[in-house]
Amino acid sequence: MTRTILVTSALPYANGAIHLGHLIEHIQTDIWVRYHKMRGHDCHYVCADDTHGTPIMLRAQAEGISAETLIERVHAEHLRDFRGFHIEHDSYHSTHSEENRTLVSEVYLRLRDAGLIERKTIEQYYDASREMFLPDRFIKGQCPRCGAADQYGDNCEVCGATYSPTDLINPVSALSGTPPVRRESEHLFFRLGACTDFLQQWTRSGALQREAANKLDEWFSAGLQNWDISRDAPYFGFEIPDAPGKYFYVWLDAPVGYMASSLHLARERGLDFDTWWRADSPAELYHFIGKDILYFHALFWPAMLHYSKHRTPNGLFVHGFLTVNGAKMSKSRGTFITASSYLDCGLNPEWLRYYFAGKLNGSMEDIDLNLQDFIARVNSDLVGKFVNIASRTAGFIVKRFNGRLADRLPELPLLNELQLASDTIARHYESLDYSHAMREIMRLADLANQYVNERKPWEIAKQAENEHDLHEACSVSLNLFRLLALYLKPVLPALAGQVEAFLDIPPLQWTDAQRWLTGHVIRPYQHLMARVEQGQIDAMLAANTAAAAATPGAASVIPAAAVSTTTSTAIPAAPVEESTLINVDDFARVDLRIARIVRAEHVDGAEKLLRLTLDVGEPEPRNVFAGIKSAYDPASLEGRLTVMVANLAPRKMKFGISQGMVLAASGDAPGLFLLSPDSGAQPGMRVK
Ligand code: 2FM
Ligand code: ZN
Repeated sequence: MTRTILVTSALPYANGAIHLGHLIEHIQTDIWVRYHKMRGHDCHYVCADDTHGTPIMLRAQAEGISAETLIERVHAEHLRDFRGFHIEHDSYHSTHSEENRTLVSEVYLRLRDAGLIERKTIEQYYDASREMFLPDRFIKGQCPRCGAADQYGDNCEVCGATYSPTDLINPVSALSGTPPVRRESEHLFFRLGACTDFLQQWTRSGALQREAANKLDEWFSAGLQNWDISRDAPYFGFEIPDAPGKYFYVWLDAPVGYMASSLHLARERGLDFDTWWRADSPAELYHFIGKDILYFHALFWPAMLHYSKHRTPNGLFVHGFLTVNGAKMSKSRGTFITASSYLDCGLNPEWLRYYFAGKLNGSMEDIDLNLQDFIARVNSDLVGKFVNIASRTAGFIVKRFNGRLADRLPELPLLNELQLASDTIARHYESLDYSHAMREIMRLADLANQYVNERKPWEIAKQAENEHDLHEACSVSLNLFRLLALYLKPVLPALAGQVEAFLDIPPLQWTDAQRWLTGHVIRPYQHLMARVEQGQIDAMLAANTAAAAATPGAASVIPAAAVSTTTSTAIPAAPVEESTLINVDDFARVDLRIARIVRAEHVDGAEKLLRLTLDVGEPEPRNVFAGIKSAYDPASLEGRLTVMVANLAPRKMKFGISQGMVLAASGDAPGLFLLSPDSGAQPGMRVK
């Protein structure tokens, strides 16, 4: 029976680049969607940029552009990055769209008419110099429990206490550095508490993984708090229809963005929006999310849907956080890896898709990307096992049999086994247990390789009288290969596309596993996939470290943590090491020194780097690779003074060891500007 399925990934914020944390979720979703499409289901995948809120408004101000211009630019970047990883959204829309404005207002008015909106005057911190109310994350001060300095207005990173910003000792605005004042304002609240019975019932409907349902029980026991859904101007968002000057809090319109994106899709393709969303919808609805936004999706969202007379989700598929080399992603270590840096360093997106698939099992456990393991696994499984089958057999078919596969395949238990595995692998995909699916496929690839090794086509090929055996062995091998490509297709769509082209067959569907390819002419084999090189990984880490060091001005006025999460509930922050406010001691740890550029040279094979030999007043000169080739002719640099970070841990790069970093300014406008001291400064002087 054909199922009608609507699938979403969480909407990325429109003020930052797509990074591996987004990719794990979008790859997980994309695999699931591609699998269901291959099964012939009527499955659509929608997403959008999450464009509203204070951090986005401030980032645009800091860049000197309108919020609309910012979100438009970021939308194009996000789309480019997702396409680069073969993420195939049917619609990638925006929460700042007419569809969303209409739908949010409709949802809100229905909630209001159901008696679920109340107004209350509350007191909040206000930055008088910036003339705006401050979100919790934009206020810093001393923790009221343990006294730790520099804590955000909602929780203490030292002792874990959660509190309200008005509890902070000596609060200051992170925007202006001035002490905020308290000011009253009327806010609108969604009466989540009144939805408790409904939500408890929904929680038992089977839509949640066990770990997620347990988390909800904790929240029910603590009691559901009413939710502040309004924000005062200035705010980048939608004005509330019956509350002029008040705007919907970004988290109210964000999930409605799922609907808006599907409405956009429905209009574009002539599909029926109501089939997906009406209260008695026959369609299935699934949301893929990270565990940090469970509260929004398991409480607010189903309540909003139900009480605005829409259907509720059939399932939330919640995944854990991504770590890199066993630790949270770190900008300074270069493991805060952006999608574009990965692609720019020449890494194949399908390597990452395969590696993540091998790690994903449908649970909420954290997932680690170990870069050494990544290299080993991809090279051994994809290149060593999978591609190897075709590369060792296809040539004979083309050269000796005019590209024609045998008319009949022999009765072989191995062929049956590969065909029968279709159901097991399907079950693993369906239940999001991709790691099991990958293990099973690689087990079958091992068997296929064993077959090739035993039949040794390269040996048979030496004797003319063995034509039939050679034809059979290679035809069987390529049929095994075709089935493996079919099973891997949700994960490796581009590689599967290359296989389809080489076998000269239409796009593989799941049911094609039940037939063999015989008496069919294939095309000449072309190399399908290269090996991962250590140098590519090193270059990627170096690129991310350099990018973090050169973060443009905007970041300095916006607390980065406020960019990564605008949540106001006590839920874990995303595992991103971010902190832009540092104290004097932090700064003192950076050993900045005047350096003389003794020599500057081009580096063979490096597109962006120059090799600098620097005199920093030490007996030995320093060797530093700097990404400034686009801006400077090396000869013009020799003899000039600049500023370097002298105590940066040495970094092994493809071209050698880099022992520090020189400082250069860059922004959105083109150009790169090496810092220089005033005349009179000497190499080795400390910069303080
Ligand atoms: O946490 C986040 O990155 C949010 N932008 C996710 C929003 S998902 C949905 F609710 F819109
Ligand atoms: Zn504390």
